[in-house]
Amino acid sequence: MHKIDSFLRETQRLDGLGLVTMRRLALRPFTFSNGVTVPAGTLIAIPTNATHRDESIYSNADKFDGFRFARLRGSKEDTVTSRYQTVSTSSENLSFGLGRHTCPGRFFAVNEVKALFAYIVATYDIKFEEGKGAPRALCIAGVRFPGTANVMFRTRQK
Ligand code: HEM
Repeated sequence: MHKIDSFLRETQRLDGLGLVTMRRLALRPFTFSNGVTVPAGTLIAIPTNATHRDESIYSNADKFDGFRFARLRGSKEDTVTSRYQTVSTSSENLSFGLGRHTCPGRFFAVNEVKALFAYIVATYDIKFEEGKGAPRALCIAGVRFPGTANVMFRTRQK
């Protein structure tokens, strides 16, 4: 499951739901700890996609590497409840938001996807149509809409 978990987190890192998350409207002027002040009426959001593709945080940031986080989980500096899990949020993993309003449904959602994923892998052989790969997503107003593709399923050959 470490590897599936890593695969899911990597998928969210590069192809999460939003280019930006945690959209907020400042109802009154607000000054951050770094001195930046946001006037009342300003819409702000967190640059999730840009953070997830930041080369100073992730090596080969634009490259999909399914076992990236599985390898990091084996590293010495990691903790028992790994900070590299899909559900572990941080300023480097913003797919489920961060802080007080972090998604409370993430444990449920990730377990569901893992169960689905495990069922598909154990039951079918799957691939894209001949000569085709993952479809390009369409990004509008900070929201990523997945592209469409035909995926071929057949009963898994033993
Ligand atoms: C892969 C699936 C999911 C993703 C990517 C996701 C993503 C997010 C994100 C980014 C936020 C933070 C929004 C913000 O701060 O503005 C959030 C909040 C929230 N999510 Fe999810 N979510 C998922 C599944 C779920 C599920 C399955 C549930 C419920 C069963 C859920 C319930 C909530 C709730 C109630 C909040 C608001 C929390 C608050 O404001 O304190 N989410 N989600």
